Amino acid sequence: MTDVLSLDGLSIAFGGLRAVDDVSFAVRERAVTTVIGPNGAGKTTLFNLISGALKPQAGRVTLSGRDVTGLSSAAMHRAGLARSFQITNLFSEMTVRENLRLAAQVLEPVSHALRPLRRRGRAADKVEALIDRFSLDAKVHEPAGALSHGEQRRLEIAMCLASEPQILMLDEPTQGMSHADTADTGQLIRDLAREVTILLIEHDIGLVMELSDHVVVMHQGRKLAEGGPAAIRADPQVQAAYFGQG
Ligand SMILES: Nc1ncnc2c1ncn2[C@@H]1O[C@H](COP(=O)(O)OP(=O)(O)OP(=O)(O)O)[C@@H](O)[C@H]1O
Ligand SMILES: [Mg+2]
Repeated sequence: MTDVLSLDGLSIAFGGLRAVDDVSFAVRERAVTTVIGPNGAGKTTLFNLISGALKPQAGRVTLSGRDVTGLSSAAMHRAGLARSFQITNLFSEMTVRENLRLAAQVLEPVSHALRPLRRRGRAADKVEALIDRFSLDAKVHEPAGALSHGEQRRLEIAMCLASEPQILMLDEPTQGMSHADTADTGQLIRDLAREVTILLIEHDIGLVMELSDHVVVMHQGRKLAEGGPAAIRADPQVQAAYFGQG
């Protein structure tokens, strides 16, 4: 199995707070790797360091064998990394189709960006495929802001896929979702894992156990443990730091 992404000693401090402190692990191709840990453990900050939203003060990020440490988020996106945010990140006034079209635009060469819309290119084809796959047909003309919370989060995942990424990073995709929407999203992630490498942050521990091939536990900025879901659940240190807190 190949590692698509590897992190080596990643660190950043905000003032005196070591938000991410010497974190290293590898993400295997076509696997679901999940980062768990209590609130404030540094999970989102770690995602920011990987995706280029923040520059690490120490350490290295390697994507498909290439050192990408400190690249901008735009450059990381072009390098094949797509990321959804803990808080929804849609253009709420724009329709579902317009949001998808914008996200797929990266598939078109710059010289094609202004050509007539009726001449379908890769981006337009991608949009139609995603509408179909995410069963959004009935919603394409609605403003994204009019969708339910669960639908918005799913649209966000669809938008991440529009750029055909190598790695999909999802920060708490089920946050604020109903039980049914959480289950649907779990199923969606399972399906997606067949074609794209997934790096996930998730609090729903049932879902973590069900979906993950590999689990990384963070606590106070540091990596506390990593391993298969069953081993992680049985680890007394992890239980004390995370499960114990409920
Ligand atoms: N830009 C920032 N400036 C200062 N402190 C920050 C910044 N971003 C995060 N922090 C702090 O870093 C720590 C880690 O935060 P982070 O958001 O990464 O945690 P998290 O594991 O994602 O938590 P949650 O489960 O609540 O989403 C927290 O103490 C947070 O207050
Ligand atoms: Mg977070």
